[in-house]
Amino acid sequence: MLADPPPGLTAVPGDGGLPYVGYSLDYMRDPVGTNDRRYREYGPVSWFRFAGNPWVVLLGPDACGAALQNRDRALANGPGWRVLIGPFFDRGLMLLDGDEHTAHRRIMQQAFTRDRLAGYTDSLHPAVEKALETWSPQTDFRAYPALKELTLGLATSIFMGGAEGSSHAEMAEVNKAFIGCVQAATAIVRYPLPGTRWRRGVVGRRRLEEFFRRYLPARRAGSGDDLFTALCHVESEDGERFTDDDVVNHMIFLMMAAHDTSTITLSTAMQYLGQFPQWQQACREESEALGTTTPTLDQLEELTSLDLVIKECQRLVTPVPGIVRRAVADTEILGHYIPRGTLVNVGLHYTHHMPELWPDPERFDPGRFSPERREDRVHKYAWSPFGGGVHRCLGMYFSSAEVKTVLHHLLLGYHWHVPAYYVAPMNFTSLPFPSDGQPIDLRRR
Ligand code: HEM
Repeated sequence: MLADPPPGLTAVPGDGGLPYVGYSLDYMRDPVGTNDRRYREYGPVSWFRFAGNPWVVLLGPDACGAALQNRDRALANGPGWRVLIGPFFDRGLMLLDGDEHTAHRRIMQQAFTRDRLAGYTDSLHPAVEKALETWSPQTDFRAYPALKELTLGLATSIFMGGAEGSSHAEMAEVNKAFIGCVQAATAIVRYPLPGTRWRRGVVGRRRLEEFFRRYLPARRAGSGDDLFTALCHVESEDGERFTDDDVVNHMIFLMMAAHDTSTITLSTAMQYLGQFPQWQQACREESEALGTTTPTLDQLEELTSLDLVIKECQRLVTPVPGIVRRAVADTEILGHYIPRGTLVNVGLHYTHHMPELWPDPERFDPGRFSPERREDRVHKYAWSPFGGGVHRCLGMYFSSAEVKTVLHHLLLGYHWHVPAYYVAPMNFTSLPFPSDGQPIDLRRR
């Protein structure tokens, strides 16, 4: 399928699957099983068809690591991700490349320093408390939509310093706009025909731009300690700053990057903590031992059991299951020829489930990340839910603080149960989510 290799390299093996859709449906139904069959048949580098395009899929830590390190800089982010999310998250940091990416990342890093993170963490507590007041515990509580609303609320308060003047109805509309943009990513019809997902993505992006532009002048003038204000003011060591367009583009991307990834981590954690009461209890005891409902960033780091649980949840349900690249020059991965123009998918989720790396990979076993076991140390790229290389997630520490803060409040205020036999019906159309909303039996303590 791909061009013939030059001497010394081998062709990428593989097969397209069904015309046009290729293996899209198989993947969405069962990503681990589909990739496992592929890995057993073709090895770590193979090609297949997905949503109309041929892709090279990289499975296992060597292949994923090679792409993330990108030593010859032949794999680009923008031309890769844009195929999936380009028009909707255009000019977000993850879609920039080369010197431009380096320059923007240098500026943005200033919004994620430890001091700033400590400040965001302090602001998280009242926002989480307020959001949890609206929860009505019941035997059939749908955790996923509740957590999604909660993380969007956190994003608007911590990122934007609150969307003053916005009604509940408007925020619900903003949430809808986000969902439209994220879900448009894997739309089969990639043209804005009425009623299509693509169309909802285009409308959503426009809505989000209006929303952020409305708040921009106040943030430029303000001195708040939210991320939006920070992006308006931060500058790199060379004194470079973001333009208004940069701030809007980065905010839209950041809200998206922070929103669904944290939500699925939280809902997976609620599921497994509900199914493994001994872990729920261990985490609660550590939370109680802190002796405060509003721990600082340093104190959150003492929640070591919770840390193990979160890592295991991000292994089992990897929030970004596959990372996208496009070859902008001929290159090679593990001796396979990747011609210029090839779309590449870095299979993080599958790598997190490989029996070669993880003993009993489908079992929830947070202890595998404990200092005595450190199963993730088997390979530098065995566990990489936050990616690697120059594009490694900039929000990694923020997300850890956010997820721990929410779970800390939940553990102190509630207990919950999920039947041992429950298997979440995961939808992998875009970023993963449980299509039943993830029912749990939630009680106040
Ligand atoms: C559980 C939560 C999260 C996960 C699993 C996650 C995962 C990822 C991954 C895999 C990438 C790399 C993409 C690539 O290489 O193309 C990435 C990039 C990024 N993430 Fe996250 N993310 C999370 C939360 C967040 C949060 C909360 C923020 C912001 C506050 C954030 C901001 C970013 C940014 C700015 C990038 C682009 C970095 C760059 O290209 O230089 N992420 N994230």
